[in-house]
Amino acid sequence: MITKRITVNSPDADKAGIAEAAEILRRGGTVAIPTETVYGLAANALEPNAVAKIFAAKGRPQDNPLIVHIADLEMLYNVAAKVPETALKLAEKFWPGPLTMVLERGEKIPGCISAGLPTVAVRMPSNEVARSIIRECGLPLAAPSANLSGSPSPTTAQHVLDDLDGRIDAVVMSDCSAVGVESTVVLLANGQQRLLRPGRVTPEELSSVIGEVEIDSSVLTPHLNGAVSSPGMKYKHYSPKTKVVIIDADADKYIDYVNSAPGNVGALCFSEEAAKVRVPCLEFGSADDALSQAHGLFSALREADSLGVGVVYAHCPRRDGVGLAVYNRLLRAAAFEVISL
Ligand code: TXA
Ligand code: MG
Repeated sequence: MITKRITVNSPDADKAGIAEAAEILRRGGTVAIPTETVYGLAANALEPNAVAKIFAAKGRPQDNPLIVHIADLEMLYNVAAKVPETALKLAEKFWPGPLTMVLERGEKIPGCISAGLPTVAVRMPSNEVARSIIRECGLPLAAPSANLSGSPSPTTAQHVLDDLDGRIDAVVMSDCSAVGVESTVVLLANGQQRLLRPGRVTPEELSSVIGEVEIDSSVLTPHLNGAVSSPGMKYKHYSPKTKVVIIDADADKYIDYVNSAPGNVGALCFSEEAAKVRVPCLEFGSADDALSQAHGLFSALREADSLGVGVVYAHCPRRDGVGLAVYNRLLRAAAFEVISL
């Protein structure tokens, strides 16, 4: 298939582009759309045949459920069977924005969205282009990250094309994603309050609105067997072909380690360190600025293969606030291999 490029810089200036993307989605097609977190691969969430095209294009395992994207609170009641008070409080504070809530699944949402789970993940993105497309087609849109399953999530339209050109109906070409890592996922069904995936909205921010939020064990440890509460967190993920290993150390020790490591090695370091690193290196943001690390991480991981090295040593980020999201993605890129110095 030929993947159509639809340029939309702003919803007001490019109404025709919004209308074209919405029409493809209404007819059951797949369209990659920009969001503030990462680009998503959208399809009509109410139509199993359209949803199946997402799994096929990405090569996504069927047991990994999708997030449903909505444009306003009214749509929430069509997607979820029950909307607890906690969800309304979080929606008021963080929607539209990079927060996904897992709630009881409404009967209009087909089981294939949720891999058969009784729940559904819902998010209202803040990106205006994304919300305009949802509003224009008048449908909730299923949208996982628009990458091939296992590769780093796309933060630019070009990343989407690198993975999915020829496999999907269209790409909405727009700005790069502001946040750079996927949304925070919090489980709120059946009275639970559990963080399944860290993101731009931090555990501390969630707790300040709804009280204590438990951090699911899959956030920081591998879950290879048995039941998991967030199936997407069990796979090796976000990986370049090149092996990635995390080095947990202060700046001096990290720089010494990579500079004296035997063999053909590369570095994934903070921008302040790049001048002192004497092996091929990529930067992923500033040492004390987790937002900049989130913004730069996936682009850097996508470039890692071009370093032409056998292993890339990534400097371990801080693990608090948004840093927890950066660390969580890096752990999966490194298949949980961490060397502490
Ligand atoms: O920022 C984002 O969330 C992006 C943009 C496009 O909105 N989307 C995204 O989707 O990251 P995806 O499919 O790459 O990740 C969805 C995550 C997975 O970890 C999945 O297991 C989890 O959400 N998830 C979805 N539905 C769930 C459910 N019913 N219960 C538990 N986890 C669920
Ligand atoms: Mg993904």
